[in-house]
Amino acid sequence: MGSWGKCDQMIVHDAEPYNAEPPRTALAGRPLTPVEVFYARNHGPIQQIDPDMWCLELGGLVERPKRLSLGELRARFAHHDVVATLQCAGNRRAGLLAVRAIPGETPWGSGAISTARWTGVGLADVLREAGLRPGAAHVEFTAPDVATEARPPGPYGASIPLSKATAGEVLLAWAMNDRPLPPVHGGPVRVIVPGYVGARSVKWVSRVTVRERPSDNYFQAVRYRLLPPGADTERADGGLQLGPAGLNADILMPDDGAVLCAGPTEVSGYAFGGDHRGVARVDVSPDGGRSWRQAELGPVTGAWAWRLWHTVLDLPAGEATITARAWDTAATCQPEHAASLWNPGGYVNTAWPRVRVQVR
Ligand code: MTE
Repeated sequence: MGSWGKCDQMIVHDAEPYNAEPPRTALAGRPLTPVEVFYARNHGPIQQIDPDMWCLELGGLVERPKRLSLGELRARFAHHDVVATLQCAGNRRAGLLAVRAIPGETPWGSGAISTARWTGVGLADVLREAGLRPGAAHVEFTAPDVATEARPPGPYGASIPLSKATAGEVLLAWAMNDRPLPPVHGGPVRVIVPGYVGARSVKWVSRVTVRERPSDNYFQAVRYRLLPPGADTERADGGLQLGPAGLNADILMPDDGAVLCAGPTEVSGYAFGGDHRGVARVDVSPDGGRSWRQAELGPVTGAWAWRLWHTVLDLPAGEATITARAWDTAATCQPEHAASLWNPGGYVNTAWPRVRVQVR
């Protein structure tokens, strides 16, 4: 076992704060990602909070501010299970780095994405009981972990629009794949915002504040913004604050650089429609995009979860570039090249994935 209950096979980008992703093959063929290989993204120290000591402050533009213990949260609100894919905005950044340097950012490969069954209460129910006051438009989440990379150093936080916060799928979650949420993933309680970039699913949440405007937290106002090429990443002017995730797909098997035997080869991966869009189709190419065949989609495990896919390609001897492209229910297709997506923060690489293999 590696640190924080993770498998030895994790690719550890930083030991402190702990940032690690599984190799792509560890995600393949598993609708739910085991906790041992679920990616971990931390901007500050992992918090170890006694569940009996945890409490949530709820305030801002509400009629009845609240202070809720974990016991009260569990006893007073209906429990919900949501299968949701969590994807870091920096997932597949390595593909953008191959286009142009992105100084100071973690070179995430294919593994900054994972799927779990999350159990908790609906944020919508908690907000309903608190009652909203006029002007309420955004909901901010604050955590106790202090990130030294923030300017100035400060606690992690984020916000989502009220329309998303009250839509029903957003959870205050205490369990992951039917086990208590471990500290590395935000236990005792974290926010899960299905369909949004992972940055908004705040771990170790300690405060929920209803506001008129989006959070001023560094990780909402400055980082996790899609900036135009040439913009300064530390100045919060221009660009857009990332929220809803867009269509993405990747190849999980075979691995990049694999040496394979000529003949029928199983190729599999995931496609993720993001916020409010399903996956309609996935095409796979054995020759870098010159010819395509349609992959078979796996079962739907939930409206907020990735869709696994697989197909069999007949690969002749030689070098091959296997590529894939997903289409969503709005007939949007992934862009062909990462070069058209390059941005200074290295976010949301949704370009066609490619793996290069040797066939013998
Ligand atoms: N919440 C806190 N408190 N601190 C963090 O550093 N990282 C965010 C989000 N919530 C973060 C956080 C980011 S960038 C992502 S992608 C997800 O948590 C990762 O969740 P995981 O580590 O459970 O996979």
